Amino acid sequence: MSEPTAAGWRPMEAGDIPALMALSATVHPTFFEGEAMFLDRLALFPEGSLVLPLGDGSLAAYALGYPVRRFAPPPLDTVLGQLPPEADALYIHDVAVDPRWRGRKLAEPAVARLLALAEPYGAAVLVSVYGTPPFWSRFGFRAVDDPALRSKLASYGEDAVFMLRETAPAR
Ligand SMILES: CC(C)(COP(=O)(O)OP(=O)(O)OC[C@H]1O[C@@H](n2cnc3c(N)ncnc32)[C@H](O)[C@@H]1OP(=O)(O)O)[C@@H](O)C(=O)NCCC(=O)NCCS
Repeated sequence: MSEPTAAGWRPMEAGDIPALMALSATVHPTFFEGEAMFLDRLALFPEGSLVLPLGDGSLAAYALGYPVRRFAPPPLDTVLGQLPPEADALYIHDVAVDPRWRGRKLAEPAVARLLALAEPYGAAVLVSVYGTPPFWSRFGFRAVDDPALRSKLASYGEDAVFMLRETAPAR
């Protein structure tokens, strides 16, 4: 196994998904998402699916983003089948780094890539969990506390915070 570097991110392939799910189970033990969800996002928006491989077939990190309606994050573990035609934000579904490799700024290039993909939509949104708002605020995200959003966040747990990084008004 080689040490991961920030330059090692590459587009995800379907063959990465078993390793991705193994890492997801480590990072998110209480949020299971199945292979069908990952295959769905890879098919719908491959440019937003990124992995940071180790040399042995496992992954040090992955990142997943795709277009959505700005205040409508999809529930966890849902197959979408198609992207919303009126998308006005890029949703950062997940950025996950193996605990062994955290604190080395490995996530940064993937976040930067997803923010570049968000530009045509005028915003990036995400649901922050595990107390990560300070991490996301580094990239210009701010928390949005809207009662209408609270029910949509129910499946993400009590510490879920909806965050927005807006570069153009909503359509
Ligand atoms: C959030 C996450 C993607 C950041 O990735 P990263 O490459 O470690 O990011 P950074 O190196 O920039 O570190 C971010 C912060 O993590 C903390 N950190 C540092 N070393 C750490 C370690 N060994 N273990 C855990 N956290 C650590 C620090 O507070 C750091 O903030 P700082 O800029 O003030 O030093 C990663 O911590 C992760 O996968 N967390 C679990 C999944 C998650 O919460 N994803 C986001 C869901 S919305």
